[in-house]
Amino acid sequence: MDIAGTIGRRGFLKAGGGFAALGLAGCAGSRLGFGAGGSMAGFRVAPMERIRVGIVGCGSRGGGGVSRFCKFPCVEVTALCDIKEEPLAKCQKRLADASRPKAKEFLGPEAYRALCDSGLCDVVYNTTPIDLHRPVSVCAMNAGLHVLVEVELTDSIEGNWELVETAERTRRHCMMLENCCYGEDELLMFNLARAGKLGDVMHGEAGYIHDCRRMMFPKEIGGEEPWRTMFISSKTKTGNDYPTHGLGPLAQAMNVNRGDRFDFVVSVTSRSVGYSEYAKGKFGPDSVYGRRAYMAGDMNTSIIQTVKGNTIMLQFCESTPRPYTRMNLLQGTKGIIRTFPLRIAWAENPVDEARNFFSKERLESVKAKYGSKLWARYGKDAKGHGHGGMDFMMDLRWIWCLHEGLPLDIDVYDGAAWSSLAELTAQSVNKRGQPVDIPDFTRGGWKTANPLDVIDFDASSLGIASKS
Ligand SMILES: NC(=O)c1ccc[n+]([C@@H]2O[C@H](COP(=O)([O-])OP(=O)(O)OC[C@H]3O[C@@H](n4cnc5c(N)ncnc54)[C@H](O)[C@@H]3O)[C@@H](O)[C@H]2O)c1
Repeated sequence: MDIAGTIGRRGFLKAGGGFAALGLAGCAGSRLGFGAGGSMAGFRVAPMERIRVGIVGCGSRGGGGVSRFCKFPCVEVTALCDIKEEPLAKCQKRLADASRPKAKEFLGPEAYRALCDSGLCDVVYNTTPIDLHRPVSVCAMNAGLHVLVEVELTDSIEGNWELVETAERTRRHCMMLENCCYGEDELLMFNLARAGKLGDVMHGEAGYIHDCRRMMFPKEIGGEEPWRTMFISSKTKTGNDYPTHGLGPLAQAMNVNRGDRFDFVVSVTSRSVGYSEYAKGKFGPDSVYGRRAYMAGDMNTSIIQTVKGNTIMLQFCESTPRPYTRMNLLQGTKGIIRTFPLRIAWAENPVDEARNFFSKERLESVKAKYGSKLWARYGKDAKGHGHGGMDFMMDLRWIWCLHEGLPLDIDVYDGAAWSSLAELTAQSVNKRGQPVDIPDFTRGGWKTANPLDVIDFDASSLGIASKS
C-alpha cells in the first residue's frame, strides 16, 4: 500500500535508510529529512494480534482511554506518562479495576521520550494538551511507534506539515482520533451519501457549538487552567479553534482528500461579548477575568470551498448559552439530512420536491435500512462509554483496522487538512474575511486516493461480547 517516490513539500533529500534506520534512531534520533517515504494514502501495516498502548497525558481523555481499551482483550496499556503523579495513579487504579497488569510509569515534562524509547509500546495515545500534540507525536513516530492523537492533530500549518512528513518518512500511522466521525447519526449521514439517497452532494454545514463558559475560568474558581482556556486567554487567537468535530464527518462524506480536496476558506468572527458578560456576572467586573479583553469573538463562521466547487459552512462558538450542537447538514440534488435532532427529506427523483422532513415512522425505517451496522451490532456495548458511545465505536474501529492490517479511516492527510482550519480561519478573520488557500497536504494524492467505504464488520474475533 506504500506508494513510493513522493517528494516532500520542501523538496528535501531522500532519507535513504528509511524506517529500518529510524528504528535504530528511536525518539531521540536525528531527523533524516522530510517526506522520504512516499504517500500514506491507503497505508497499512501487518496485522497486529496484540496492541501495546502507551498513553501520554493521563487526564480526562487519557484516563477514559484506559477504561475503554480494557474492554478489548487484544489491547494492553503498557505505559503511562504524565507530569503529575495523581493522574498516573488514577489510571493505574482503572487498570487494576479491570484486572489488568500495572503499566510502567513515566513522570515529567519530557518523560514521553523515554516512554517512546522503552520498547514497551506499539502505539502511543497522545492525549496531552493541544500544544504538545506535535512534539509528542513526532517523537513517537521517530521511535517507530504509531500514534493516535486527540483532536485537533496540531494547531499550526507548520506543525501539520511536520506530522505529515514525519509519518511519510517513518512509515507510521498518525491518526487523529476524531470520535464524531463515529457518531450514530454521522455514520447514517455517510451511509446515505454513499447509497446515493441525497443525490449529487454539493453542500454541507457543521460546527462545534458548546457552551463551555463554566469550564473556562478555573483560576477564578481555584483550579488550574486547562487546555480549553488557551484559546480565550490568548491575546492573538481568533477564528475557529476547534474545527474537526463538525468538519471531519462532512469531509469523509464529501470525499475530501479522496477525489476532492479543500481549496480555500473565508472566515469572519462576531464581536466578543459572551465571555466578558459571563465573567463580570460570575466573578465581578473588577476580577481578573472580568477585566480581560477577549479576542476570540463569540461566533466564528467560515465557508470552505473545495476544488470541485462544493461548499461547507462551519461554525464555532463556546461562549453563549445555547444547547449543544454539531449541526451536521448534508445537501445533495435529491435531498437533505440534518441532525440535532435528526431530520431527513429526499425526493426519489431530483426533479421532484422534498417539502417536508420524513415522519417519525419513515425516519425509523430509513434508520433501519441505512443506519450504521456497527451501531446495530455494538450500540449497547457503546452506550455508557464516552460521548454517547462514539468513543467506543471509534476505538472498536481503529483496533479492528490494526488487528486486521487495514488502513485507518482518518489518515495523516485528513487530520492535517481538517486541523489546518484552526490557523487558516484565524488568518482569514485577520484579513477581514479574505479567502485563504488551504494546503494540499496530499500533494496531489487526493486525485487517486480511494473513497472510504461504508463501515461494516463483525468484530467477534476481538472477543467483545455483543449485547445487542
Ligand atoms: N475527542 C474529544 O471529544 C475530546 C474531548 C476533550 C478533549 N479532547 C482533547 O484531548 C486532549 C486532552 O484533553 P483533556 O480534557 O484530557 O485534558 P486534561 O487536562 O484532562 O489532560 C491532559 C493531561 O496531560 C498532562 N500533561 C501535560 N503536559 C504533559 C507532558 N509534557 N507530558 C505528559 N503529560 C502531560 C496533564 O497533566 C493532564 O493530566 C486535548 O488535546 C483535547 O483537545 C478531545
